[in-house]
Amino acid sequence: MTTYATGVQGVTAEQLEGFFDGWASYPSPSALLRILANSTVAVLAFDGDDVVGFVNALSDGELTAYIPLLEVRATHRGRGIGTELVRRVLDRLDGCYMIDVVCDADVAPFYERLGMQRLTGMVQRNRHAAVLTQRS
Ligand SMILES: CC(C)(COP(=O)(O)OP(=O)(O)OC[C@H]1O[C@@H](n2cnc3c(N)ncnc32)[C@H](O)[C@@H]1OP(=O)(O)O)[C@@H](O)C(=O)NCCC(=O)NCCS
Repeated sequence: MTTYATGVQGVTAEQLEGFFDGWASYPSPSALLRILANSTVAVLAFDGDDVVGFVNALSDGELTAYIPLLEVRATHRGRGIGTELVRRVLDRLDGCYMIDVVCDADVAPFYERLGMQRLTGMVQRNRHAAVLTQRS
């Protein structure tokens, strides 16, 4: 059974190993724990004690929120966990005017099912950011 928790109380970096599937360089598990702890909202999905998915959001609390990260472990995809994580984070952001996500085109239908719309966005990525570890 999948359970959900808001916040990272009691979660260890070891439970966050193996995320950022497919990223050439990625935050370490301990960096991910800090990222989630410092987020306005973080929701985690558990299978027993195993963290099998997470989503986070950053917000000014009134006008704007951004959802930077959403991932479900490959072993647990296709069971509605990603949908439930986004539903829960959107609930927590209810009241914000702008709730933005940047995603690859192939993931856009996933967010469209949740009521989001496509819009052109602009981004900058610093591939040398200190938080990133090169995949060996
Ligand atoms: C995107 C992701 C979080 C979805 O998680 P999930 O738990 O598998 O999603 P769900 O089971 O709730 O899927 C809900 C629906 O969205 C569809 N869907 C899931 N992932 C999709 C994707 N990558 N692209 C398009 N549709 C997708 C499913 O087919 C499903 O549709 P159905 O109910 O008609 O079968 C997961 O595939 C993932 O972690 N991908 C890698 C990381 C990523 O791309 N994150 C998004 C960053 S913006």
